[in-house]
Amino acid sequence: RSSGTSHQSAVTSHSQMSKNLVVIGAQWGDEGKGKIVDLLTERVGAVARFQGGHNAGHTLVIDGAKTVLSLIPSGILHAGVQCVIGNGVVVSLEALFREADMLVQRGIQVYDRLKVSPNCAVILPSHIALDRARERAQGVNAIGTTGRGIGPAYEDKVARRAVRLADLMQRDRLAARLGEILDFHNFVLSRYFSAETVDFQRTLDELVAQAERIEPLLADVSVLLRNEMKRGTNLMFEGAQGALLDVDVGTYPFVTSSNTIAGEAAVGTGLGPRDINAVLGIVKAYTTRVGAGPFPTELFDETGEHLSRVGHEFGAVTGRPRRCGWFDAVAMRRAVMHNSLSSLGVTKLDVLDGLDTLRICTGYRIDGEIRDEPPLLPHRFSECVPVYEEHKGWAEPTHGVTDFSKLPATARSYLARMEELAGVPIDIVSTGPDRAQTIVLRHPYD
Ligand code: GDP
Ligand code: IMO
Ligand code: MG
Repeated sequence: RSSGTSHQSAVTSHSQMSKNLVVIGAQWGDEGKGKIVDLLTERVGAVARFQGGHNAGHTLVIDGAKTVLSLIPSGILHAGVQCVIGNGVVVSLEALFREADMLVQRGIQVYDRLKVSPNCAVILPSHIALDRARERAQGVNAIGTTGRGIGPAYEDKVARRAVRLADLMQRDRLAARLGEILDFHNFVLSRYFSAETVDFQRTLDELVAQAERIEPLLADVSVLLRNEMKRGTNLMFEGAQGALLDVDVGTYPFVTSSNTIAGEAAVGTGLGPRDINAVLGIVKAYTTRVGAGPFPTELFDETGEHLSRVGHEFGAVTGRPRRCGWFDAVAMRRAVMHNSLSSLGVTKLDVLDGLDTLRICTGYRIDGEIRDEPPLLPHRFSECVPVYEEHKGWAEPTHGVTDFSKLPATARSYLARMEELAGVPIDIVSTGPDRAQTIVLRHPYD
């Protein structure tokens, strides 16, 4: 164009250089994000976590060897890839070092490749005590949290009283800040919950020891990621939990305490929304949920038992059994909207092997009407009765299939129907836990 300016060319060349993908869970978590992030890391220079904490449990299986990651990005098993924990993550230093040391013991370089934002709020032992005391006090109304202190840590961040990683670098200020926050926590623990309090000196000593170890890992992650982009490196943003556990748009109050949707990838790393080019939503070929809260397609019969047994549906972090049910296309359509999904990764197709008839929820019946999206009000959501369409199952197993054309015809039409209901294409189909047990129809970085 004749009006072409340096301004314009700077803008276009920037977007041509690197492609940045967000990978999020599009259901209630445990969709297989870790497996897919690990797989796609072959095409990126850096992988960043942007929200949540060690409530996440991301399972990677490579040639039969299993690794479960809670805090360190799932790109870490690829040598040379930069791994980043962004400002939106709440960090338990104990959990972080435990995980890093476990990886180092297995011969994986972690400490020279991991950078953490000094803006991250720290999870203190008192946050864990508060999380557990509150859950106990709630009794049957408990949320079923992971008990990792996630909720209380985010509360303190928003209340502007959190200890951030940067605060650990100033010993005098740290003692004062910790003193204030522990006074408050211990007041609530003892007076409101009649629970045990947390010792100030012990907590301070632990933090001071951890401060020395975390210092070399601290970095301005926004600048780091921007510099990677300038060099033309692709980035990946790894979500934790799932869209329906988002504190704003999820099944509140049965949610986690962070924004889990794709927009948070920018917020939680200090980049802007235009730095995200594509969003891959991971869904199971059915649905699971850990903890309490509405789940319209939940099964309590033999099929639910099949999904639980064949899918090994037990929490990677807490070992709790996951509730299982049919694929919910209504919930998925909301996830497509909340995350502006560009494509889907469908996992655990193989878990449906051996079922004669499959069902997909295409609408909810409420007030005598069939609706194709869930009401936002949570009390109404639990009144929704799912409306299903039936699909034929398949006799030949899909487990381990790596070629789309080798899938049984009924499996292909089941996937085609998922795609049609979502309104976005399926890029990836996963047929087993191993990195290799995957069909890539279109690589999200192409
Ligand atoms: P994440 O939290 O989203 O990373 O998922 P989790 O790791 O908590 O849970 C997914 C579970 O399913 C893990 O045990 C994975 O090893 C396993 N998994 C992932 N993809 C597949 C698949 O396609 N088939 C089967 N059978 N298991 C899978
Ligand atoms: P990944 O990343 C599934 C659920 C808990 C509980 C609710 C609140 O592995 O998919 P919290 O401890 O966050 O305050 O608990 O959220 N939850 C998850 N469910 N997968 C997860 O992570 C989860 N992280 C939290 O079970 O219902
Ligand atoms: Mg998980």
